[in-house]
Amino acid sequence: MKPIPMTRRPLVAALAAISLLASAGAALAQAPAKLKVGLMLPYTGTFAALGIAIENGFRLYVSENGGKLAGREIEFFKVDDESDPAKATDNVNKLIKRDNVDVLIGTVHSGVAMAKVAKDSGTLLIVPNAGADAVTGPMCAVNIFRSSFSNWQPGYAMGEVVAKKGHKKVVTITWKYAAGDESVRGFKEAFEKGGGKVVKELSLPFPNVEFQSLLTEIAASKPDAVYTFFAGGGAVKFVKDYAAAGLKKSIPLYGAGFLTDGTLDAQGADAEGLLTTLHYADSLGTPRDNAFRLSYAKTFKLQPDVYAVQGYDAGQMLGIGLGAVKGDLSKKAEFAAALQKAKINSPRGPFSISKSNNPVQDIYLRQVTGKENKLIGIASKGLSDPGRGCRL
Ligand code: PHB
Repeated sequence: MKPIPMTRRPLVAALAAISLLASAGAALAQAPAKLKVGLMLPYTGTFAALGIAIENGFRLYVSENGGKLAGREIEFFKVDDESDPAKATDNVNKLIKRDNVDVLIGTVHSGVAMAKVAKDSGTLLIVPNAGADAVTGPMCAVNIFRSSFSNWQPGYAMGEVVAKKGHKKVVTITWKYAAGDESVRGFKEAFEKGGGKVVKELSLPFPNVEFQSLLTEIAASKPDAVYTFFAGGGAVKFVKDYAAAGLKKSIPLYGAGFLTDGTLDAQGADAEGLLTTLHYADSLGTPRDNAFRLSYAKTFKLQPDVYAVQGYDAGQMLGIGLGAVKGDLSKKAEFAAALQKAKINSPRGPFSISKSNNPVQDIYLRQVTGKENKLIGIASKGLSDPGRGCRL
């Protein structure tokens, strides 16, 4: 049988189609693979709102950059860690082993141990909240960064403030776990250096909110002031119970700023006037913060808080590091060096990253006025975590 002769026109069309397919294939081959980002955050429980704000902040930064970081599109994987330390290893392994993520962003609760797994596996981790001192202390590693704070930082700043106010006798109250313990330790260090004395340290297990007997104990001790660390849903309940027990009028309450951040709608008048220390305030009034607040409010129909800022800055830090290594995350030392050289242009104000990969930042004194944590001043300028025991 004779071959069917091909006329010229279909031949040209076929060749054109082949070359089109080839160039599409080449383009596909050249497009960098998507960057797999694993979000391990609480989406249920007392810290649920914190996890959502962090994710919103992170996504806002990515979307402001056209959905890409350093030219790579982002693909998200999510795990609800429920702020449950017992499930932490399983949860983080879901992201690392099942989903094969390139980067971990998490978490909120200091007891949910991601850092050890990240350190052992070498997976890049940016912590957008959990303040556990160990993460940028003894556990520090070239691939572990924080966009938030160490628990010591706001506590230490408040210790100085309360000592300067002339209070001598303070009772502390918090949840019994790393964040509470370390926040109180930071407070106590500065307060006692300033001449005060922590006369009683009260605590209850996380995430319990049965404060009544402890409030009775505070009333009986008659301290000059109370220092506290609570956050999320627990902070709402504590502030309301403190006022309902009649203590707000007689014993001034001071806290790490989580006490009143993202909580003011629910706390209402019971929070009015409270003084707290944190690396963010609602009324910074800088062009950078104004633009961020507007963009966040438009996108999510919500006001941002410190958690949103920390999520946003985790995005910025990832973008800076990725840009420096041109998307190649195996270059860990170069990634870290770029961040340690950078000034992060945060809504909170510019901050740098210490040698143990923790923010060096201003800690503000704020006062609740209506629905805002209003800026009073800088409590501690460029406060660096001591990072005791860090060996990178
Ligand atoms: C923490 O567990 O480190 C923690 C949780 C919530 C906060 C701050 C710190 O708001």
